[in-house]
Amino acid sequence: MSGHNVWTHKGTFLLAAVGSAVGLGNLWRFPYLTGENGGGAFILIYALTIFAVGIPIFIAETMLGRTSRQSPIMGMRHLTKTHKTSRAWESIGWLGAAAAFLILSFYSVIAGWALHYTWLMLTGSLVGADATTISAGFDALLASPGLMTLYHTLFIAFSALIVGLGIHKGIESGLRIMMPALFAILIVVLIYGVINGDVGAAANFLFTFNIADLSLEGWLQAVGQSFFTLSLGMGAIMAYGAYMSSEASLTRTAIAVAFVDTAIAMVAGLAIFSLVFGAGLETDQGPGLMFVTLPLAFADMPFGALVGGVFFILVLGAAISSSISLIEPVAAFLVERFDMTRPQAVTIMVVAAWAMGLLTVVSFNVWAEGTIFHALFERSAFEFIELLTNIFMPLGGLMIALFAGWALTQSEVMKELGTNITWFKTWRLLVRFVGPAAVSFVFLRTIPQVEGYVVPTLGALLIVGVFALSQRLRKSA
Ligand code: PFF
Repeated sequence: MSGHNVWTHKGTFLLAAVGSAVGLGNLWRFPYLTGENGGGAFILIYALTIFAVGIPIFIAETMLGRTSRQSPIMGMRHLTKTHKTSRAWESIGWLGAAAAFLILSFYSVIAGWALHYTWLMLTGSLVGADATTISAGFDALLASPGLMTLYHTLFIAFSALIVGLGIHKGIESGLRIMMPALFAILIVVLIYGVINGDVGAAANFLFTFNIADLSLEGWLQAVGQSFFTLSLGMGAIMAYGAYMSSEASLTRTAIAVAFVDTAIAMVAGLAIFSLVFGAGLETDQGPGLMFVTLPLAFADMPFGALVGGVFFILVLGAAISSSISLIEPVAAFLVERFDMTRPQAVTIMVVAAWAMGLLTVVSFNVWAEGTIFHALFERSAFEFIELLTNIFMPLGGLMIALFAGWALTQSEVMKELGTNITWFKTWRLLVRFVGPAAVSFVFLRTIPQVEGYVVPTLGALLIVGVFALSQRLRKSA
């Protein structure tokens, strides 16, 4: 059964985790959030969170996977039994599965846009086009449910094919080809940006900060983004961790993933903003930064169509290496629990996520307004799904931190972490208190109705509640 599988090499987990971490979050979301939130100050908070909260929780998540050696749901079921904790902690697995399913549904639609732009670039359709034409083109894509569904289907089917082939023949082999190619392309795009764009202005924008520029909202988005970009809190890293070699170091691996992921976001930011500034365009275009502003920058540059096409291939590859990590936890669960074959399990997960993705597709056109989602939640179905995942991911991360911090015994953790007692104590402090406090804060703030003075009150209550719960966890451990 897949639960007993281990990656072929000691370093494969690193490759797989980097594949999962590096995706639309780095190439699409990070630059546009940075652009909207004024640059350096946003990056500072983002990087601090990655290192103080992200890395410890990443270690916790891999640890739960590797000690249980099963899919997140079955693994948590196993751990709650062996550690005599409440079965409620199994919800870490279920929450993760739900989040993976929801993220996959919209991730695939957005990756589909990149497919469209790969095509437009490589066929030279945008060469010399002006701002109005390019932005009208993006609007036309969003207005077409048929076209979006086509791309969404192609993207998700390809991801399914890779996972369906299994962790060795599909995921490992796929990543081994894709990841080096992605790094190479990113370097090419960076060099291109340096030659044709304004890299000085980009570096200035990204690396000088005035902390006063950052709104509370930006601060919270930075924390949320650091979770999303490391694929934390939803079982993807736990599922991959279940296949991790016992010899690989959790700490070193976590630091390496965080480092590579952050470096790639920075390089992508540098390349994209060089082109944007070089073309005299604005940085605060929101989600359209990659699909409107960037194509516009490429439209007038030498070899712009070719390099732009290659850039969108990079986006696609990065998205695929992430989407396979969204399929794996649920597929592995179906295989373990219901004895399905891997292709059957993958098909069920992917067909369901595909159907769910249609809600995102129509959110940009026929259901752009006046639906039940707008009536009840004042947002489109897509925005509602995104909100749900923004709640599930931190919540999952919080529970993972608490379970690993309080329920696992010292000797178990020491065995997984290595024997450095100072590092053990630091890590435990981070996952017991620092992570949960930071995450509770963000979590509460993602609920739109909770604002103003209500936030600190609820935050304090939550932290007290979390502490009380942890005490119970510890007693029963
Ligand atoms: N980390 C991915 C990105 O930055 O695009 C997104 C992601 C993948 C989130 C897998 C969660 C996940 F489980």
